[in-house]
Amino acid sequence: MVAKNKIRFDGRVAIVTGAGGGLGRVYALELGKRGAKVVVNDFGGARDGSGAGAAGPADKVVDEIKAAGGEAVANYDNVATPEGGANIVKTAVDAFGKVDILINNAGILRDKGILKMEPENWAAVLAVHLTGAYNVTKPAFQVMRDNGFGRIIMTTSAAGLYGNFGQTNYSSAKLGLVGFMNTLKLEGAKYNIKVNTVAPIAASRLTEDVLPPDLLAKMKPEYVAPIVLYLCSEACEATGMIYNAGAGFYNRAAIMTSPGVVVGDGKKITSVEEVSVAWPQIMDIKGAKEYAQLNDLVLGDLLSALEGKKAPAAGGGGGFTSVKEVFDKMPAAFQAGAASGVDVVFQYCVAGEGDWYAEIKGGACTIAAGAHAKPTCTLKIAAADYLDLMNGKMNAMKAYTSGKLKIEGDLMKSQLLEKLFKF
Ligand code: NAI
Repeated sequence: MVAKNKIRFDGRVAIVTGAGGGLGRVYALELGKRGAKVVVNDFGGARDGSGAGAAGPADKVVDEIKAAGGEAVANYDNVATPEGGANIVKTAVDAFGKVDILINNAGILRDKGILKMEPENWAAVLAVHLTGAYNVTKPAFQVMRDNGFGRIIMTTSAAGLYGNFGQTNYSSAKLGLVGFMNTLKLEGAKYNIKVNTVAPIAASRLTEDVLPPDLLAKMKPEYVAPIVLYLCSEACEATGMIYNAGAGFYNRAAIMTSPGVVVGDGKKITSVEEVSVAWPQIMDIKGAKEYAQLNDLVLGDLLSALEGKKAPAAGGGGGFTSVKEVFDKMPAAFQAGAASGVDVVFQYCVAGEGDWYAEIKGGACTIAAGAHAKPTCTLKIAAADYLDLMNGKMNAMKAYTSGKLKIEGDLMKSQLLEKLFKF
């Protein structure tokens, strides 16, 4: 099925690094054809990154975009230096006033087995791929944040995602970009900045002697461009995702985590022998899922699993019949002995009931109705769920992982609640 509305980039400004050839050239041409103003960056070095650089590759692509009726400027900076990255973004802002789209694509190869992997080959590959992406992304992110819109693409590789003999440097740099994306997607979320990663498979000077010629003929870079452009578009809601793309085949790769097991009782340090006995359960990937961020694991499944090992709370909780009663009893439940050095404001938003906050400072606790101007962390929950929680009918971790309890701000500080209040 062909989408009714064509995906266009009119009014958008795009930077494509390493766009003087291969995949980057095709991304830049296609963005130009669809209305984007494009900064065509290319240092113009050799396949291994050596050489003094050349203006030819970037200039040629700019000419091609213009010949097709598009707008583009060339930039010859090296992404591997912070000055280069800053100047690439400056080129976009000077020529077109902003940056909406950044495709971190520039890349080199220096393949060697680990024992022949000299420090300069290791460092050069990390400098271009990983540090290069940082050098351009940082100044671009500032402009995108100011404008409340951004689409950033990282370029990984199947070599990084799955491994490939002779490419320890390249694999490390490429998977490093996935880590970069995982955190940047969180930092960009508030500003409509989406960050995604593509692992292309395409014929280019990087792959000309790696893949057989008949296969290369099928691997036109043009097949990778559609998913990259889609991820750069306003239509794209995805963020933090990884896609393989080549020869018209597209799939999504993800880091999956198994349900896991608590070995021992979660109190006594686990022994090596206990780990060896539990090995089949540790290895079992059945029921694996994706986490959106670190705390889904640490404050979510890990703590829930440990909680599951604890004996159920005796007495059935606090016997609260109203939300107000909880906050009325909170000052008496405060554990001053556990509050030394604690300076924190918990804001509660109990849907249908109102807002309260607990301010803990200098060993004292103030509970008041209403909104605090500077909460450290905000807990949002429906009234019935809050009562279930306070009456011991629902576990806090379960409430969080199921989405019934939403925590904004400094999530880690919410861990203090259990110690600070004993009802
Ligand atoms: P390519 O060699 O045709 O294009 C890379 C471009 O980056 C070149 O034009 C080069 O001059 C430029 N470049 C290199 N170092 C630079 C620097 N320091 N500053 C600015 N520009 C620089 O290779 P291809 O295949 O188009 O690669 C594009 C990206 O896709 C790379 O990141 C590569 O690692 C990645 N990739 C490609 C795959 C493929 O099958 N072609 C597979 C997996 C990843």
